[in-house]
Amino acid sequence: MSKTVNGFSKLTKSEKIEWLIENFFKGDENVRKILSQYWNDNKIIQDLHDDFIENTISNYYLPFGIAPNFVINGRDYTIPMVIEESSVVAAASLVAKFWSTRGGFKAEVISTLKIGQVHFMYEGDKAELEDYFNAKKEALLKATEAITKNMRKRGGGIRAIELRDKTEGLANYYQLHVTFETVDSMGANFINSCLEAIAKEFENNQIHVVMSILSNYVPECLVRAEVSCKVEDLYAENSEFLAQKFVQAVQIANVEPHRAVTHNKGIMNGIDAVVIATGNDFRAIESCVHAYASKDGKYKSLSNATIENGVFKFWIEIPLAVGTVGGLTSLHPLSKLAMQLLGKPSAKELMEIIAVAGLAQNFAALRALTTTGIQKGHMKMHLTNIIKGLGASEADKQFLIDYFEHKTVTHNAVVEAYKKLAQDK
Ligand code: MEV
Repeated sequence: MSKTVNGFSKLTKSEKIEWLIENFFKGDENVRKILSQYWNDNKIIQDLHDDFIENTISNYYLPFGIAPNFVINGRDYTIPMVIEESSVVAAASLVAKFWSTRGGFKAEVISTLKIGQVHFMYEGDKAELEDYFNAKKEALLKATEAITKNMRKRGGGIRAIELRDKTEGLANYYQLHVTFETVDSMGANFINSCLEAIAKEFENNQIHVVMSILSNYVPECLVRAEVSCKVEDLYAENSEFLAQKFVQAVQIANVEPHRAVTHNKGIMNGIDAVVIATGNDFRAIESCVHAYASKDGKYKSLSNATIENGVFKFWIEIPLAVGTVGGLTSLHPLSKLAMQLLGKPSAKELMEIIAVAGLAQNFAALRALTTTGIQKGHMKMHLTNIIKGLGASEADKQFLIDYFEHKTVTHNAVVEAYKKLAQDK
């Protein structure tokens, strides 16, 4: 039976759910209950969420946590994190505390430029195209004046327009490569509107515009975050040896892509969580960061670590195109709250905070991996979740936590230990 439907978007929310239940859940009314459990009783909030996208049938909750004790450039921060994976917020908090007593994190924005491109086809003489471009350049900027007016007042706008010959990769393919400064906004709409105005002005009967769109690859929207301390201050015991292992773990991620992907995934645990909490576009960040990790022709670690003259240094340099005004950042009440919690940062400051969250997460993962192993912490969480599922009392919970201190946690083993505990009572 075909499940295609016409005019679906015109149906009310309740009619959409009806259709869903009939067509995919054999009329199971429980589905309606599950979906409605997540609606917000406050109509204003629900309408807001309904309107973020199309065909909304419920809200999808993720935990919103906070990681206190971050010191960045001498300032205290509590960082908001939205993530479903256990241990991430705990790790961030632990690492924040750890570095707060070792000088904190240092972060700096290196550059803030964003890119947009008009991709076009041209079969004529290249020198003629160059002449046409040079003659038109002023007019191209003029065509965007109405759009860039406010942005220019805030110190942003178009920084450069270049004609690029891409015919080596594809016959007749050229582009206008445009560089933007969008200050505190992510700037996607602004960039795309400018590009479309430029394309319209540039097109003629020999120049056929294929598309005009921003690029999410922004290697010149770059931020660096760093921590450092004396090697002896890094671990309670065996510091020299363990610090070496830590550096080796980073070196391995630099030469082995299988490891680099997981290494960087750990970094993205921290980055995405803050990007989502602050209402920014995590898909844009993800696609850019991984392209950047491959910029030398091989997928590598996003972080680096060295030991020099008895000093351990650990840092990250990543492109992060984020905004602190406009978009979801000012629409979603929790994103607004997250921004307030961070002291209403500028886009530059938010880049620094996010880079720090990524570095902190990477530090936590590498420290665990090169010492106790990652499973110890994970299993502790796993154990508490199993105990919770069993409905154990506080006293039984503590007994089981102590009992499994040096034992392997499996669901079965916990159930058996709980059963035995009940029998022995
Ligand atoms: C798990 O989400 C992230 C880690 O695998 C990262 C890493 O291995 O570095 C722990």
